[in-house]
Amino acid sequence: MLLLESYRLGPLELPNRLVMAPLTRNRAPSGVPNDMMATYYAQRASAGLIVSEGTQVAALGQGYQDTPGIYSPQQRDGWRRVTDAVHAAGGRIFAQLWHVGRISHSYYHGQRPVAPSAIAPTGKAYTPEGMKPYETPHALSRDEIIMVVEQFRHAASIALAAKFDGVEIHAANGYLIDQFLQTGSNHRTDEYGGSVENRTRFLVDVATAVLGVWGAGRVGVRLSPGGGMNGIHDDDPVETFRHAARLLDEMEDIVYLHVVEAPVGSSGPDERSVCATELLRPIFRRTLISTGGYSPASAERALERHRADLVGFGRLFIANPDLPERIRNGAQLNEPDQTTFYTPGEHGYIDYPSMEPVAA
Ligand SMILES: Cc1cc2nc3c(=O)[nH]c(=O)nc-3n(C[C@H](O)[C@H](O)[C@H](O)COP(=O)(O)O)c2cc1C
Repeated sequence: MLLLESYRLGPLELPNRLVMAPLTRNRAPSGVPNDMMATYYAQRASAGLIVSEGTQVAALGQGYQDTPGIYSPQQRDGWRRVTDAVHAAGGRIFAQLWHVGRISHSYYHGQRPVAPSAIAPTGKAYTPEGMKPYETPHALSRDEIIMVVEQFRHAASIALAAKFDGVEIHAANGYLIDQFLQTGSNHRTDEYGGSVENRTRFLVDVATAVLGVWGAGRVGVRLSPGGGMNGIHDDDPVETFRHAARLLDEMEDIVYLHVVEAPVGSSGPDERSVCATELLRPIFRRTLISTGGYSPASAERALERHRADLVGFGRLFIANPDLPERIRNGAQLNEPDQTTFYTPGEHGYIDYPSMEPVAA
């Protein structure tokens, strides 16, 4: 099976082509990674590559309860325990650098969320006190944009100190970078808004800053051309995302593009966009990861047809810590339990069973 063949990703030799997709699990009280998280990731170290859950680059970048951060010394030390555990178990792990922008809420940090423009998303924010209407965000000034880029750079340096193998810039799913990319949330009239060249400027600034820390072969970017999450909208997603992919292709040190197919719970890709993976495959000429709704069989077909080089699995990795081994053995897969995706504690987190060891 192609899925179980090794793959060279920049300087890393991946033992298989399964990527554990980034998965927010809300198990980091006070935003500091802990030993339970180290256990969870180490259990999944047989993935070709793990991408960590989204980890906020600053306090204002947080949008959900108990998500981990990556900007303080305590968070650096917590992540170091995670990366040590993954490496000791033979794995490789990238940190997903995250800023939720207008999807945040003052509940988390006492301030107005920030965004490219003062446009509130539709819907409500999750807080432990219940759902609250999204607040109208503060539109970032040009100086503040420079500060946020600096926060991404700082977080990238913390990730380096915490011994991650690389970082993934979260530019997908309606969060801050995506808010800059798409016309529905970006009404700016300066050099960060309007034309597609301007709307992609923030992504390029962040990528340039992060590459300055990490260098070649260690930085990936996640995009979601299908839209549909967190009230995000674009008048011409095909043009927007083609342009973004072209720019990332030109930044030769970017090692992969991670494409989100239809988001969880949606009725499928936005009707105005084509299959996101097929759209961007010919444009971004290095490694392409495709994630979203894959089974082992459909992932294998995607690899056979050269639609992607690596395939990401989200929910299947939640439920199957030994997913590659199960696929190798044609073993039954555990079912993910949605009710424990975001709840505190070990249940539904580190207690999914691996296959029984085969008797010699
Ligand atoms: C519980 C859960 C948490 C998620 N958290 C993140 C996240 O932190 N960052 C991100 O980019 N995507 C996140 N996603 C999206 C997944 O990475 C993935 O794209 C999605 O689950 C579709 O893949 P699947 O069908 O294999 O589950 C999350 C999905 C789930 C189910």
